[in-house]
Amino acid sequence: MAGNRTFTMIKPDAVSAANSGAIMKMIEEAGFRIVAVKKTQLSEERAGEFYAVHSQRSFFKELCTYMSSGAIIPMILEKDNAVEDFRKLIGATDPKKAEPGTIRNLFAKSIEANAIHGSDSDENAAIESSFFFSNLERF
Ligand code: TYD
Repeated sequence: MAGNRTFTMIKPDAVSAANSGAIMKMIEEAGFRIVAVKKTQLSEERAGEFYAVHSQRSFFKELCTYMSSGAIIPMILEKDNAVEDFRKLIGATDPKKAEPGTIRNLFAKSIEANAIHGSDSDENAAIESSFFFSNLERF
């Protein structure tokens, strides 16, 4: 059975463009409840830990530089079928391929600066949530 929580973070391009409020409104209006939220900034090393699965990819170094270039807003979200429904709400990785009306279609600047992250499995949602939040920060 699909889990009811996922992890997201609003990325530096969207935070610096003052789009975080509009994005959080879309998330809530789509029926997700915000369980945990904070504003923080990753070091390049921490960004590398978060994206370790991509460490052998050609875009890895640039991705880590970008992800540590400014503030981010990580969140844990709750809804039935959370992982799958949230991936639909954010749209494809490359904003040129993202469906109209999705968060990446509306706010992403490029395939790298693509506005928002969404976990791709229940297992990764749990791992990524624990990367940013303790159990005492979840409500
Ligand atoms: P990926 O896990 O493939 O996509 P998603 O975020 O949709 O799950 O890639 C992780 C991030 O890596 C992606 O959000 C942006 C970055 N990225 C690039 O910069 N260039 C690329 O060619 C790809 C595939 C990803």
